[in-house]
Amino acid sequence: MSFTTHILRRGLSTGVLRMAAVNHVTVIGGGSMGNGIAQVTAQAGCQVTMVDQTDEILQKSVNTISKSLQRVVKKKFADDPSKGEEFIKGIMGNISTSTDAPGAVANTDLVIEAIIENMDIKKKLFTELDKVAKESTIFASNTSSLSITEMASVTQRQDRFGGLHFFNPVPMMKLVEVVRIPQTSDATYDTLVEYCKKIGKTTVSCKDTPGFIVNRLLVPYMMEAVRLVERGDATPRDVDTAMKLGAGYPMGPFELLDYTGVDISKFVIDGWHEKYPDNPLFNPSPLINKLVSEGKLGRKTGEGFYKY
Ligand code: CAA
Ligand code: NAD
Repeated sequence: MSFTTHILRRGLSTGVLRMAAVNHVTVIGGGSMGNGIAQVTAQAGCQVTMVDQTDEILQKSVNTISKSLQRVVKKKFADDPSKGEEFIKGIMGNISTSTDAPGAVANTDLVIEAIIENMDIKKKLFTELDKVAKESTIFASNTSSLSITEMASVTQRQDRFGGLHFFNPVPMMKLVEVVRIPQTSDATYDTLVEYCKKIGKTTVSCKDTPGFIVNRLLVPYMMEAVRLVERGDATPRDVDTAMKLGAGYPMGPFELLDYTGVDISKFVIDGWHEKYPDNPLFNPSPLINKLVSEGKLGRKTGEGFYKY
């Protein structure tokens, strides 16, 4: 091993190296979150490769980004539509798509995983990517509720691993929770924070605990709302009206459940219940189970607690 390679390896494994510039980002999963993350990253001038399972899904993701950018442009370039067109073209030019995850990460600075909320599937993906990504590439997961430490354990780059938890809708929500595991190096953490700054987000730091900050508070709140309806105490519509007009929330809990995906909340609560069966805040909900079994996942399927 050459002296430089030795120093580089040592630096990487001990976190001695300084923060690295993030110019190319690979987003795995082009769903609600992945396409939003790809959009804001491309808007900040980074090159982005968005990966999903089929070209058809990727085409939908690209269309969603394009529609979201039209909404941005409508306000930003209200007086000059041709400048707006140029703006969109420039950003879309920063985004490429691929169905080949290992191929897409071969030369990337940062991988952000935003696939299905399932530990085994995420671990399988990271195992595969770890073998082919360059040594300096940082891996991050956008998981809502799973352990980052457990995901990182299948890789040889635990010092270059962290959580980047974005919020839905990504282009509008200003926060990203940056999650450190005990092995995350300072250089990795600083790089993740700097990337978030570059894309215009405010960060908070959190340890690798269930739900980090926001979901640890938000998910039990939404589940309490569902239990209130299950008991027949009030209707979803009245609960939503109450929380919007009585507590100043932008959406009521049922609007939010439908917006983020009823299936996402089911994955979260089932996972936490399995891990912490004695915590009543994490009890699963028969009503949520019924909606998911009927394919009523919220806005994305046209029906959840409400019809769209
Ligand atoms: N892309 C681009 N622009 C958008 C947009 C998007 N996806 N969504 C909204 N906008 C912009 C547009 O300019 C829009 O104007 P047009 O409709 O004319 O295009 C403008 O915002 C206003 O939007 P809306 O009229 O739809 O409504 P709003 O002012 O109520 O804002 C909202 C929408 C930001 C979603 C707001 O309702 C809100 O903050 N809701 C709560 C969201 C929330 O709590 N998210 C966190 C969920 S939890 C999570 O994500 C974590 C997890 O792990 C599950
Ligand atoms: P989604 O179902 O909208 O999208 C997931 C995408 O990943 C789909 O397009 C699917 O085809 C793709 N996918 C699945 N397995 C894949 C694989 N092995 N390789 C490549 N692509 C694959 O889900 P989402 O709402 O975008 O959630 C994604 C992640 O983000 C989850 O971990 C979720 O917990 C988290 N999250 C969700 C929200 C939310 O509000 N929906 C908010 C924050 C974090």
